[in-house]
Amino acid sequence: MSKKWFGIALSAALIGTAMCAIPAAAEEADVADKKVGICIYQFADNFMTLFRGELENYLVDQGFTAENITIQDGKNDINEQSNQIDAFIADGVDALIINLVDPSNAPTVTDKVVAAGIPLVYINREPEESEEQRWADNGWNVTYVGCDARQSGTYQGEIIADLGIDAIDFNGNGKVDYVMVMGDPANSDAQYRTEFSIKAVEEAGLEVNALRDTQIGNWQQEEGNRIVTNDLAQFADDLEVVFCNNDAMALGALEAIKAAGRTVGEDIYLVGVDALDEAIDDVIDGSMTGTVFNNHIAQADGAADAAIAFLAGEAQDVQQYCDYVKVTKENAEDIKALLQ
Ligand code: BGC
Repeated sequence: MSKKWFGIALSAALIGTAMCAIPAAAEEADVADKKVGICIYQFADNFMTLFRGELENYLVDQGFTAENITIQDGKNDINEQSNQIDAFIADGVDALIINLVDPSNAPTVTDKVVAAGIPLVYINREPEESEEQRWADNGWNVTYVGCDARQSGTYQGEIIADLGIDAIDFNGNGKVDYVMVMGDPANSDAQYRTEFSIKAVEEAGLEVNALRDTQIGNWQQEEGNRIVTNDLAQFADDLEVVFCNNDAMALGALEAIKAAGRTVGEDIYLVGVDALDEAIDDVIDGSMTGTVFNNHIAQADGAADAAIAFLAGEAQDVQQYCDYVKVTKENAEDIKALLQ
């Protein structure tokens, strides 16, 4: 199965990491009269709101007219999204960009979109590798453009491990006592971040202790707040590190931490993923230990480029990944500047 890594024109020096080269601009395709249908799993998601805004602007920059770009809110409902996809097919859109409500639905969606002869770009929620392999085997115009969630989990774990056990071990038991707040468990981003964050701490040679089983916060701030409020009441000073699969839940966790009279960096640590504006500010002022930049700009632009390339008759690798970037106090100002 062929995989491509890409990045956008971010200054590598500025963000302190090696980004991949800009992909060769998609072959000139006349897109002024092309219609693109976009399905977002739910508009009420902070990260997907940023992603969606960038996607729309970039498509217009590439020559699509605003009237020919239709974006639908799946409202986190599989049936609702399925009807939206059917309507796009009936309407004869020229390309589809889909953020699935449920990635396990990819085979069904792929089959009907391919049967209608419409090129398809999946974003954000990656289908199973076996499904991607099926696209490659059949030579279909289907691709996934996103990030490798394993990398974001690893970066979260490294941010914590880099603090060193002496700084983390407030209760002196020699272990990293933590809780995990997970996103939607059906989503590979949530599965991989949960697994690889802890793996990275262990691989750095630190012993970990999960204070409880993983709890599901479904990517939502209020859930992060509810879960961590309970954790702080139950585990009190034994709770040393809060891992959240995204920043929205970490922002909720931070409210809980403050309400419990605890202070990040002094008696507890907190990490998220995404690099939402508010989270970057929290990293700058020390109220979040770190986050991981989930590059919505590269992903949105990459998804649009893939759709344009399909329209120009160019085959695409079935898996197209861009890099995450670790965000700590050292580079948070730079990331903030980059996103302004
Ligand atoms: C982001 C989350 C978002 C989710 C939606 C993840 O990559 O980190 O913030 O809620 O995608 O699927």
